[in-house]
Amino acid sequence: MTASQKSVLITGATSGIGESLVELCAQRNYRVIACGRNELKLATLKSNFPDIDVLQFDITDKGQIEDALGQVDSVDIVILNAGDCEYIDDVEHFDNALFERVINVNLISIGNMLPHIIPKVTQGGTISLMGSSVTYLPFPRAQAYGASKAGVDYLAQSLRLELQPKGLNVSLIQPGFIKTPLTDKNDFDMPFLMTSDQAAQRIFDGIEKNNKLIRFPKRFIYLMKLMSFLPEKLWTSMVLKGV
Ligand SMILES: NC(=O)c1ccc[n+]([C@@H]2O[C@H](COP(=O)([O-])OP(=O)(O)OC[C@H]3O[C@@H](n4cnc5c(N)ncnc54)[C@H](OP(=O)(O)O)[C@@H]3O)[C@@H](O)[C@H]2O)c1
Repeated sequence: MTASQKSVLITGATSGIGESLVELCAQRNYRVIACGRNELKLATLKSNFPDIDVLQFDITDKGQIEDALGQVDSVDIVILNAGDCEYIDDVEHFDNALFERVINVNLISIGNMLPHIIPKVTQGGTISLMGSSVTYLPFPRAQAYGASKAGVDYLAQSLRLELQPKGLNVSLIQPGFIKTPLTDKNDFDMPFLMTSDQAAQRIFDGIEKNNKLIRFPKRFIYLMKLMSFLPEKLWTSMVLKGV
């Protein structure tokens, strides 16, 4: 690492948006610390980008988090991107185990990583949390995913309130639909679908500009905002008919 080279730690680096972020940051000459659970995928990343460092840990395991993040001295940018989506298919027989899994991986994991991250982010550095545009409106089957990402929204804003005066930026990322293994499982239309490379570019441009809220694509965000002004009755009948 050269003296002027900035570092970026990315969770969920083994797939989708995170993998595209690794590639983009390596191209932009950042020192990349790529984090993931899947050993084989991390080894492939390392062979494709020999200059990156890799850290293998499960973000739902406190011990693994402590061991892995204990190896990081300091870092300029942290992108807490790892996450998962599972849908509640039968709300009348609410799957509380699924609910717990999703809240754990998308929200509680961030709380477990923060104590090992906040003290290591350099002055003027950034912590960026991966939310989702799902939080603009309630969607069917998204009780677990939406609730987890609503928690991430609040966490980012509340962290910023207190960390910004101490010289740390906190940003929130709210993408629309991005084509990744996570959304490949979806069985519904995904308007304005973008590639993970396009998403990575929007995200990292936003981080480099110190934007607090990084949301895209604009057409989708405007549409969601507009829909959020509809009377609840109308929105309910639209979503239950499949919009
Ligand atoms: N795709 C979209 O349309 C979209 C839209 C809005 C927000 N997001 C958010 O963007 C983030 C990335 O999603 P993606 O679409 O790129 O999905 P993805 O391709 O499925 O990638 C998810 C990443 O998270 C990692 N991960 C999951 N559980 C983990 C765990 N317990 N421990 C460590 N790593 C774990 C995965 O690692 P393994 O490979 O080891 O499983 C993988 O690298 C998620 O937070 C998602 O909610 C996605």
